[in-house]
Amino acid sequence: MSIEAPKGTHDVLPREWPAWQRVLDEAERLCAAYGYRRIVTPTFEETELFARSSGEASDIVSKEMYSFEDRGERSLTLRPEGTAQVCRAYAEHGLQREPQPVKTWLVAPMFRYAKPQKGRYREFWQLNVEAIGCEDPAVDAELIALQDAWLKALGLETTLLLNSIGDRACRPAYLERLEAWLDEHSSELDAEARHKRETSSLRVFDTKNPELAALLEGAPTIGDALCAECREHFEAVKRYLDACGVAYELAPRLVRGLDYYTRTTFEFVAPGLGAQDTVSAGGRYDYLVETIGGPPTPAVGFASGIERIVLSLEEQGEHFEHPAIDVFFVCEPDAPRERVLALMTALRAQGRSCETDFAGRSLKGQLTQAQRLGANLIVIAAAGQATLRRSGKPDETMSYEMLEEELA
Ligand code: HAM
Repeated sequence: MSIEAPKGTHDVLPREWPAWQRVLDEAERLCAAYGYRRIVTPTFEETELFARSSGEASDIVSKEMYSFEDRGERSLTLRPEGTAQVCRAYAEHGLQREPQPVKTWLVAPMFRYAKPQKGRYREFWQLNVEAIGCEDPAVDAELIALQDAWLKALGLETTLLLNSIGDRACRPAYLERLEAWLDEHSSELDAEARHKRETSSLRVFDTKNPELAALLEGAPTIGDALCAECREHFEAVKRYLDACGVAYELAPRLVRGLDYYTRTTFEFVAPGLGAQDTVSAGGRYDYLVETIGGPPTPAVGFASGIERIVLSLEEQGEHFEHPAIDVFFVCEPDAPRERVLALMTALRAQGRSCETDFAGRSLKGQLTQAQRLGANLIVIAAAGQATLRRSGKPDETMSYEMLEEELA
């Protein structure tokens, strides 16, 4: 019986890598341009880290975590997201003593036990970008501008949805108003909304049920209930986004699936992805670091699903190829293979890419393979001499000494 990859996981095959490479190279370039530095965190953490930060009632904690006992010692969990980890590293290593904000980026696989569908996997990759230790709204705008620049550089058309969900000062009073409204309409709520109310009523807005969404159009929104500080912060974020030329749509009912958010929240959605159309999302999480035992530390960040970005590029008809190789060595049956291999080693040491045949192909088959790889130059190696073939030029046959000089 053959063994297949576990449900909800996937391979990235060599032929698929060029699209991934493009997406990740562009991310790395822009993170550097915006002053974010790379961080690497473990694949698993104490379960408590995610339980405390994401919220016990969030989908992630209540049903999606891959948790296991570490040989009977403690409960560990494969990371479902990166933000709590970066905050844990920040607090653990005293990064509050470094110049603030500490700006990091992380590319890593995440694990969530959810029903697999297009754009939703049980193991998926995220680009996770965080700015920890600063409440300046200009940082919120900077992070959003970074995503915008990245998605635009990739040629992706997306819509940015923007909201502010308040803080400790204004949210409790708003939640009371929302609760009262939900009480009035309790008979019209679906089972999921009733369940969400028990733990986090703000999350009733996070629904795919069109009837409920229509009903919630009439509910009070947090945007109308922001305190003066949150309103000012949000106004500044919008002003800075305008200044950076980033277009957005205000989405007063936008809430996120994790409990740690405060103030700014946002999502970039892409057409053509169906239900899983959010390619990048995040917001401010000013209380997370202290929730996990660190000092009070305002912070903001986002994460993007790499598979969803790659899928969107495919939806838009983008196609990426491996870079062409520099030299292909076609070997006649009597070619001095040792000499060819030595020459290839020398060329590769100079940073040039080369290939030869390892599959016993005929001369014609080797030439076809060279073309397939887009070789800029073909060397046809025979006993005692080699022929150099360049496009648009006549073939040149020469000794191996001359060939070495020519290639150098
Ligand atoms: P999130 O909204 O749970 O936020 O995930 C961020 C992005 O990861 C989503 O918008 C989506 O592109 C991708 N994603 C999520 N789940 C899956 C899945 N099952 N399969 C494929 N892609 C998926 C967070 O994770 C927060 N940590 C974001 C953040 C960073 N907030 C502040 N800093």
